Amino acid sequence: MGEFEDQAALWDEWAPSYNEASLGPAKPVAEALAKIAADGPALELGIGAGRVALPLARRGITVTGLDASTEMTRRLVERRGDLPVDVRIADMAAFGVPDRYPLIYVVAGTFYLLTTRERQMSCLRCCAQALSDGGRLVIEAAVPGSSALPLESGVFVRSVGQDHAKVSVVAHDPVTQTLRSQEVRLHGEGLRLRPVTRRYTHLSELDLMASVAGLRLEARYSGWTLDPYAAHQPRHISVYSVARELGSGLGDR
Ligand SMILES: C[S@@+](CC[C@H](N)C(=O)[O-])C[C@H]1O[C@@H](n2cnc3c(N)ncnc32)[C@H](O)[C@@H]1O
Repeated sequence: MGEFEDQAALWDEWAPSYNEASLGPAKPVAEALAKIAADGPALELGIGAGRVALPLARRGITVTGLDASTEMTRRLVERRGDLPVDVRIADMAAFGVPDRYPLIYVVAGTFYLLTTRERQMSCLRCCAQALSDGGRLVIEAAVPGSSALPLESGVFVRSVGQDHAKVSVVAHDPVTQTLRSQEVRLHGEGLRLRPVTRRYTHLSELDLMASVAGLRLEARYSGWTLDPYAAHQPRHISVYSVARELGSGLGDR
């Protein structure tokens, strides 16, 4: 099996207990994306069960989503009602789309689920192809080495309750820039393991990869309130546009 099929199998298994709430409120995310997107339409990579796509669609923006997992997207389809959200199973590292989008976004560290530089590069190239003139790619991820993404191996206690304990067991490989982890839940019925591998990118590397793919950094924020990013903040929201489009910044819209 390749990485895409592995991800599909993992997320199919996790879908019933995927905890959207742990990622924080989606409304500010949708508000900020709507501001960046103008009128859309938008393309979400790794749309999942629609945590962000549904509130964005409620703001009148048509969203198409790509995802690996039929179980995650089945939940989205169940929840979307009449909202303009469409979804298809496709690898975000190797997609082509018939339309061009003013907004492509990948949030909640989903970009790091592409676990090699080649797959990340390939994703950025696909994005550059799929953006409309003046369109924007938005990537939200944790900053490597920050409190949100410590670069160390170890066992980290996540929560302890009367009937359960959750720990993350993490192995850091600085050469491949990967964090391989098991999210372990111990409870009355036994033990549950959830393997996750992430390849993190330092900001400078992400900008360089984007540049090789034909994209340039337009703005970088520290959160969905769209405050400018400053060193040592734990998360970044980076906005790229197609490099041939020189000119208007976000403030010009
Ligand atoms: C952390 S969840 C995020 C879901 C959603 N964006 C959200 O914010 O709730 C990551 C999603 O990415 C999907 N995914 C992982 N690898 C993928 C790939 N190579 N191509 C498309 N989707 C992928 C998973 O199936 C999962 O639904």
